[in-house]
Amino acid sequence: MEELKRAVAKEALKFIEDDMVVGLGTGSTTAYFIEYLGKLIMEEELEDVYGVPTSYQARLLALEYGVPVVNLDEVDAIDIAVDGADEVDPYLNLIKGRGAALTMEKIIEYRAGTFLVLVDESKLVERLGQKMPVPIEVIPAAWRAIAEELEVFNATAELRMASKKDGPVVTENGNFILDARFHRIDDPLDLEIELNNIPGVVENGIFADIADIVLVGTREGVKRME
Ligand code: 5RP
Repeated sequence: MEELKRAVAKEALKFIEDDMVVGLGTGSTTAYFIEYLGKLIMEEELEDVYGVPTSYQARLLALEYGVPVVNLDEVDAIDIAVDGADEVDPYLNLIKGRGAALTMEKIIEYRAGTFLVLVDESKLVERLGQKMPVPIEVIPAAWRAIAEELEVFNATAELRMASKKDGPVVTENGNFILDARFHRIDDPLDLEIELNNIPGVVENGIFADIADIVLVGTREGVKRME
């Protein structure tokens, strides 16, 4: 699996040119990309490539590997965003958020000129929700009320815990995460919008109709979906 992740991360470098602002995703696959991007910047002496991190994890990796970072409010536009995903359907709809960074990821990736997704073949599904729950970032005080309300959507939701001892996972925005399992997701875009209409929901991990290109690491090489 790690080899497949490395292979897609390397392939993603072909999309990078000088003078680009690059959204830096969160997770193990994107971590390889940030490492390779740092090497590319050094070897090719790229002077004007900047990264906009989606999390502290991405920020620290960028600093470690020599990718200059800027904040979203310091750039006019994001040329390309590169990130992993937890599920990808045949229409390039995604579930994201195992790393609890989904809100900043969506803010940045929605605005990117190109949103490039890096996955290994285990992430491909026929229908979203087949393997993974949908992460939903919620205002802490509302977690239980929202979890109950999700029953209307035929879903069961669990509060994501760091551990029994450490309590719930707290996002970088100070919120909780509900992991919601839906009986069946027929229309990802519709569900994405509906979930965000629930008061107390900050953002959810369905990324419908946002991805432009998906690079898939397979044992036969890197394949491209678009
Ligand atoms: C973090 C994410 C990640 O991109 C997603 O969980 C995939 O991670 P990995 O590359 O480690 O499998 O959405 O919030």
